[in-house]
Amino acid sequence: MSTQSLYSVPADIAANALVNNEQYQKMYQKSVANPEDFWGEHAKRIDWIKPFTQVKDTSYDDQNLYIKWFHDGTLNASANCLDRHLASKGDDIAIIWEGDDASEQRKVTYRELHAEVCQFANALKAQGVKRGDVVTIYMPMVVEATVAMLACARIGAVHSVVFGGFSPDSIASRVIDGKSKLLITADEGVRGGRKIPLKANIDEALSRPDVTTVESVIVLKRTGGAVNWVEGRDKWWHQVTDAAATDCPVEEMGAEDPLFLLYTSGSTGNPKGVLHTTGGYLVYAAMTHEYVFDYKPGEVYWCTADVGWITGHSYMVYGPLANGATILIHEGIPNFPSPARLGEIVDRHQVNILYTAPTLIRALMAEGKQHFDKFDGKSLRIMGSVGEPINPEAWRWYHEVIGHEHCPIVDTWWQTETGGILITPLPGATDTKPGSATRPFFGVQPALVDNEGNILEGATEGNLVLLDSWPGQMRTVYGDHERFVLTYFKTFRGMYFTGDGARRDEDGYYWITGRVDDVINVSGHRLGTAEVESALVAHDLVAEAAVVGYPHDIKGQGIYAYVTLTKGTEATEELRQELRQWVRKEIGALATPDLIQWASGLPKTRSGKIMRRFLRKIAANEITNLGDASTLADPSVIDTLIESRLNRA
Ligand code: WTA
Repeated sequence: MSTQSLYSVPADIAANALVNNEQYQKMYQKSVANPEDFWGEHAKRIDWIKPFTQVKDTSYDDQNLYIKWFHDGTLNASANCLDRHLASKGDDIAIIWEGDDASEQRKVTYRELHAEVCQFANALKAQGVKRGDVVTIYMPMVVEATVAMLACARIGAVHSVVFGGFSPDSIASRVIDGKSKLLITADEGVRGGRKIPLKANIDEALSRPDVTTVESVIVLKRTGGAVNWVEGRDKWWHQVTDAAATDCPVEEMGAEDPLFLLYTSGSTGNPKGVLHTTGGYLVYAAMTHEYVFDYKPGEVYWCTADVGWITGHSYMVYGPLANGATILIHEGIPNFPSPARLGEIVDRHQVNILYTAPTLIRALMAEGKQHFDKFDGKSLRIMGSVGEPINPEAWRWYHEVIGHEHCPIVDTWWQTETGGILITPLPGATDTKPGSATRPFFGVQPALVDNEGNILEGATEGNLVLLDSWPGQMRTVYGDHERFVLTYFKTFRGMYFTGDGARRDEDGYYWITGRVDDVINVSGHRLGTAEVESALVAHDLVAEAAVVGYPHDIKGQGIYAYVTLTKGTEATEELRQELRQWVRKEIGALATPDLIQWASGLPKTRSGKIMRRFLRKIAANEITNLGDASTLADPSVIDTLIESRLNRA
C-alpha cells in the first residue's frame, strides 16, 4: 500500500468496530461470489411479515431488464422503523430536534413517534389516501416531516418529498408527474432566521391550470404566520390528527411495492421520478447505515442533509430508524447564526456520528478555526462526507478541527438512484486517503470503462459503472421505464452507468472525479444544465442560453450561464440581476446562476450542436489549451467569448 497521505484506522476503532480489514475482505469476497447467500442472510436484519424464498432476480440486459430483490417476501417499512423497537427501546429517544433558533428543542421517544405516525396515518386514510397513492410532502426540517413519511409507508402510500427550497413551478411539475391527490406542507419553514413561505408556494403551484389532481392539502402550523386558506381543500395538521387513534395496523407490502419517489436531475429534460421499492431498499439502507458508520446502539447520529434529498431519506430516516438509532434533526443551517453552531450542536447533544457535506466544511473552513475554540467535540467518533468530491484540504480540516484527528472519515459515494452508499471506507477496516471514497461496499461491483465500454484494469481512469445489482438500486423512472433503460443501461450495455468519472489508484482505491454528463453539482445539489437553460430561455428577452459548471471554492461547482439576448435588447446589469432572479423563481435558489456572460453567439457545429467543452473551459478560465475549433460553424465566436469571460480567477 502506498503510504503517501495515508490515514490508518485508529487502533481503538479497529478493536471495537463491526468489521476490521480482514473481515471486510472475507465478507466482500463472499458478497460478490455468492450474492444469494450473502443477501439472503443479511436481509434477516429486517422483520418480514412473510419471509422471502427468492433473493436476487435481476438482469442488466437492456433488451430484457428487470431488478427484483426478495420479491415474494412481504413487510412494512414503518413497522421496521418503529413497531419492532417498542418492546426493547420504546422509551429511548428516536429524534432529538433542535430548531433554527436553538431555544426550541424537542425530544421524541420511539413510543411517541410510533403514536404520532399512527395518528397521522389514520388521518391520511380518513382523507381518502389509499395504498399505492402518491402523496407529495413539502415540509421544513421538523419532526413531522419524518412522521409524514413513515405514515405514508405505514398505509402503503408512496411519498414524494419535494425539497423545501424548490419553487412553485418545480413543485407543480412533480405533483403532475406523480398524479398526487394529497399534499402535506407547513404554513412556513424557518431557516437561517428567515421564514420560508411554504404554504404560499403550494398555493401558487396549485393555482396552475395544469395541476388538476390535488384534492387536499394538510398544513402543519409551524410558525403561525398568516396563510391563505382554501375551504374544503386545506386542513390543519392538528385538526386532522387530534381526533385520530394512536394505533394503526400496518399495510402488508410486497418487497417490490413502491416505497417512495424522489425526483432528481439528469442530463436532459425534466427531473425524473426515481422509484425505490420497499424490501431491498430498507435492507440496504439499514445495513449500510450500520456498517459505514459503525453504528453502535445508544449512539447519537446526526445527518445534516435535508429530508428533500436522498441522503435525508436513507440516512436521516429509514436507515437509522430501522436500526433503532437516536437521530438528531436540525431545522436550520449548521453555520447559522455563526459558524460555531455546528460544534455547539455536537456538544449540546453529545453527537457521536456526524454526516455532512464538503460544501459546509469548505464554508466553515473559510470562516476560520477560531469559531471552534470553544468546541469540545469529545463525543464524536465517526464522521462522514457525501454529495460531491471532497478536496483534500477540506478533508484535512474536517479531520483536524472537527474530528480532533481521532475520528475516521467515511467519504461516501452514491446517488439518488443507488438508494444507499456504494463506495466508502468502513471505519474499522479501511485506511483512508483524503479525497478518495476508497473501496466498494459489500455486494457492489464497480468497474471503470473507456468510452466504448471496454473494462479497464489496474490503476487507471474511466467512466464509473456497476456490473451487477444491489438491493438498494432504483427500479424504474416513475411512469417512464424506457427512460430508465435508456439513461442507465444503454450507454454501456450490460452495465449500470453512473454518469460519474473516476480514477482507481494502485491500491484499488476509487477517486470520484465528478460527472461526465451534463449534470452539475452545486453545493452537493444536483442540477441538469438543461433545466437551467430552459428556465433562462423561458424569459422573453433571452434568445438562447448554454449553462455549464465551473470550479467554485465553496460550492464545488458554480453555475456559469452564457446568454444570447433577443435582437435589440440591451445587455444591462439590471437585466443580469433580473435573469438571476428569474431562474431562482423558476426552479429555486439553488439554481441561481453565479455568473452570466452575454454572448453574441455560441460555439456550434455546422449541424447546430453546441460544443460545451469550449464553454466549460472558458468558464473555468482554462483558455490556453482549448482544443480543435475547426469543426465549429464560426470559430471566431471562441475569441469573442474568451475576450468577455467573467471568471479570471
Ligand atoms: C456526486 C447524493 C464524489 C456524484 C448522495 C454522484 C459524490 C452525485 C460523492 C449524486 C462523493 C455523491 N464523492 N462525488 N462522496 N457523493 N457524489 O443523486 O457525482 O444527489 O453522481 O446523491 O453526487 O448526487 P445525488
